[in-house]
Amino acid sequence: MNTNLEKNRFEHEQPGNNHLEICNLNKTFTVHVSGGKQIMGFEDVSFNVKRGEFLAIIGGSGSGKSSLLKCIYRTYIPDSGLILYHPGPEYQPTDLTAATDHMILNMRRSEIGYVSQLLYAVPRVTALDVIAEPLLMRGMDQAGARDIAANYLARLCIPEDLWDAYPSTFSGGERQRVNIARALVASSNMLLLDEPTSALDPASTAIVVEMLREVKLKTTMIGIFHDLSVVREVADRVIVMKNNRMIKTGTPGEILGSSTGD
Ligand SMILES: Nc1ncnc2c1ncn2[C@@H]1O[C@H](COP(=O)(O)OP(=O)(O)OP(=O)(O)O)[C@@H](O)[C@H]1O
Ligand SMILES: [Mg+2]
Repeated sequence: MNTNLEKNRFEHEQPGNNHLEICNLNKTFTVHVSGGKQIMGFEDVSFNVKRGEFLAIIGGSGSGKSSLLKCIYRTYIPDSGLILYHPGPEYQPTDLTAATDHMILNMRRSEIGYVSQLLYAVPRVTALDVIAEPLLMRGMDQAGARDIAANYLARLCIPEDLWDAYPSTFSGGERQRVNIARALVASSNMLLLDEPTSALDPASTAIVVEMLREVKLKTTMIGIFHDLSVVREVADRVIVMKNNRMIKTGTPGEILGSSTGD
């Protein structure tokens, strides 16, 4: 580990407790079709996430929330700053901004899961197989993996007729539930959720909230939400983004008070 990492680690860490430390992170985009124009993703973001904590990120459209989550998942590489991932007290932290692609792919298998804001579906893979895949990759037999996948689909009220159909033909809400189920069966140690309930009706939202509360017992989560009632139900702490900066953090009660608007 280099000296900068060591310095930051001790400046920002409460020993043994942090799962993620983000220090002075910045991201701009260069848009080549606009003649190399620079667009601000977010700037000067710093926060820690404790192991087992559920951190909600809220804020207006375009304030940098998804870009921040994508930097943690390493879909984007930030311009500067550190993202220190602590696998556990006995391991050295990994700086996700500098880790090799190979390390990142390994971490995505077991350490860090992600539910995208865009409801992407792999073509020609059935709903059951989409959800069973992370279990098969861990060595579970196909019958067992499909059984667990079926339980998730049933619990999420996906009609049984659809279990062997392709999610690429599903409604937005059905596809979102399949994506959430896939992320939950993977049992990652940290889960990144980008508006996981945005396409869901109130009944499905309530089921997903219940499932998130269950996995919270063993998973650290960072979730972006526009629905502040969900934030009140799941989050331990809230970060507010505005004008591409993090403007405040606090408990849901401190940040949201009794209002329900965004
Ligand atoms: N790949 C990209 N290329 C260029 N600009 C980008 C890219 N991704 C994000 N941006 C820009 O970065 C800014 C922040 O976008 P981001 O998607 O992080 O916002 P957000 O807070 O998630 O918004 P929303 O609530 O609408 O999802 C926006 O101005 C956006 O246009
Ligand atoms: Mg977004």
